[in-house]
Amino acid sequence: MLKIAVCVSGGGTNLQAIIDGVASGVISNTEIVRVISNNPNAYALKRAEAAGIDAVCISPKTFETREEFNKALLKGLEESGADLVVLAGFLVVIPEIVIAGYRNRIINIHPSLIPSFCGTGYYGLKVHEAALARGVKVTGATVHFVDEGTDTGPIILQKAVYTEPGDTPEILQRRVMEQAEWNILPQEINMIANGEVKIG
Ligand code: GAR
Repeated sequence: MLKIAVCVSGGGTNLQAIIDGVASGVISNTEIVRVISNNPNAYALKRAEAAGIDAVCISPKTFETREEFNKALLKGLEESGADLVVLAGFLVVIPEIVIAGYRNRIINIHPSLIPSFCGTGYYGLKVHEAALARGVKVTGATVHFVDEGTDTGPIILQKAVYTEPGDTPEILQRRVMEQAEWNILPQEINMIANGEVKIG
């Protein structure tokens, strides 16, 4: 049984897709052991609680230094006993001690086709604003392993989504979630849980 910890910052629709995937069997051999949010007001925490999952807030604002926060985040993950860390809309740069502690055991969902519209400053709606400003006809989502860079780790799954005339960033964000993110993130976790992903 793969134990996963899911890190979130906001609405938690990707978390919900994982919770639903585990419940429906789309994700097999998997248990969500903890949800961690950096934001005490994240609706994602309510989703976790509603599903009976251990949910904790570890906010940098409650620590005197970034280093203390980094250590608390690592401890929060280690205590959960998770084998895999899933970043599902977690808008915190992952500290090196966490990357080193979970080498090739952290995956992230990003709402574009990497290497387009990724890296520092590209998160959430900003990604879709940039895609529309550039006038791309195809965008999508990417699941990748997390390394020391921002959105630079090995790509595992991608799914393309068409833009449409009249799209706003909000409309495009929703379409990318519905057609790509909520499918490929659960699919990827299921693949890892069932030994179908080779690293390196
Ligand atoms: C998702 O679109 C996710 O891909 C994105 O934040 C959103 C979170 O939504 N992540 C990033 O931009 C990471 N760079 P959610 O809280 O409803 O899952």
